[in-house]
Amino acid sequence: MKREIGVGLVGSGFMGRSHALALAIAAVAFDLPLRPRLELLADRDPATARRAAEAFGFRRSTGDWRELVADPGVELVSITTPNVLHEPIAMAAIAAGKAVWCEKPLAPTAASAMAMAKAAEAAGVPTFVGFNYLKNPLVRTAREIVAAGELGEVTRFRGIHAEDYMADPEVPWSWRLDPANGGGAVADLGSHIIAMARFLVGPIEELVADLRTLVPERPVAPGSGERRKVEVDDEARALVRFANGATGTLEANWAATGRKMHLAFEVTGTRGAIVLNMERMNEMRLFLRDGRAGRQGFVEIPAGPAHPDYAAFVPAPQHQLGFNEIKAIEAAHILRALAGGEPFYPDFREAAEVQRTIAAIQLSARERRWARVDEVGAG
Ligand SMILES: NC(=O)c1ccc[n+]([C@@H]2O[C@H](COP(=O)([O-])OP(=O)(O)OC[C@H]3O[C@@H](n4cnc5c(N)ncnc54)[C@H](O)[C@@H]3O)[C@@H](O)[C@H]2O)c1
Repeated sequence: MKREIGVGLVGSGFMGRSHALALAIAAVAFDLPLRPRLELLADRDPATARRAAEAFGFRRSTGDWRELVADPGVELVSITTPNVLHEPIAMAAIAAGKAVWCEKPLAPTAASAMAMAKAAEAAGVPTFVGFNYLKNPLVRTAREIVAAGELGEVTRFRGIHAEDYMADPEVPWSWRLDPANGGGAVADLGSHIIAMARFLVGPIEELVADLRTLVPERPVAPGSGERRKVEVDDEARALVRFANGATGTLEANWAATGRKMHLAFEVTGTRGAIVLNMERMNEMRLFLRDGRAGRQGFVEIPAGPAHPDYAAFVPAPQHQLGFNEIKAIEAAHILRALAGGEPFYPDFREAAEVQRTIAAIQLSARERRWARVDEVGAG
């Protein structure tokens, strides 16, 4: 019999369901040393929690996340609540010596994120952050290509994460617009593209940024005539300099009409380039400057079993993985790390560095000047 690990899930919205699915898929797709046991689910009230626990297959439910953290049957605490709750839940879990899987962005501020990273390190508690797009087999292949020097020296990263779920001015107020949760698009989507830039090219040292709010007020509730002022950004742009000398641009936008999942990047090196767009997450375009003139160009590489973890789902190339499979890869890596086999990336420390980059973008935009990432949130 495989050893089991008791999972406690806090939150049952978009990401709560995704964590539950990911654990279920990972347990079947991968040969893992640990089997997840869906022990306890917490949500904001007992009835919501009970409904979700039944739907997702959790044994028990509670309307109080504190009960979940303290429960002896819970060894891994999975946090899928609005951002402002990540810190109190994670800190309580860390104090109880439990491993934590937390959604991005790690916290509303760099100081909170750094405090969480330090607390976890001091307690020796393993931590995992849901930057799932880094688990795409083609993104990991892109990193292998960059690390092996196949592109030559990396000189440029051009990254964007644009969607349009806030484009309609009638989209009502929600936790995503509450400044207590951190920034707007720069935290919600910008965190993903910053994590991607750091994964592929390395740390960002300094930047100059501009933030803009496109919809100045929104209905307080669906269909309501009452409006509430929007104090967070709808779009963010930054020019960045990486520690290794590469330069680039980053963009985050949640009001980019027509865009649904435009997390896209281009990594340019002295001998080659990679282009990837998560709207077509099973295709990567690779240019290598070898071969005769007149025979060069971008080659389109379809995802297949030659790319890491793809074969866990399908034995043949070009059969298309999706969002839930890459989340399942994240869950599989977490279960392997918990069994002691493999280090996990990204952890709270890495997510805190992403958060400092967000804070530097906000500082630069506020003061209308270049900002260094080490100006903020070192704690
Ligand atoms: N990794 C990704 O691709 C990705 C995608 C979307 C969201 N997220 C992140 O996941 C988190 C949740 O986002 P979402 O889209 O699932 O939000 P959501 O609004 O769909 O779900 C939030 C859940 O938290 C619950 N909740 C609220 N207050 C609570 C409390 N006090 N105690 C317990 N539960 C409580 C809500 O009832 C709901 O079930 C955010 O941090 C967000 O940034 C990550």
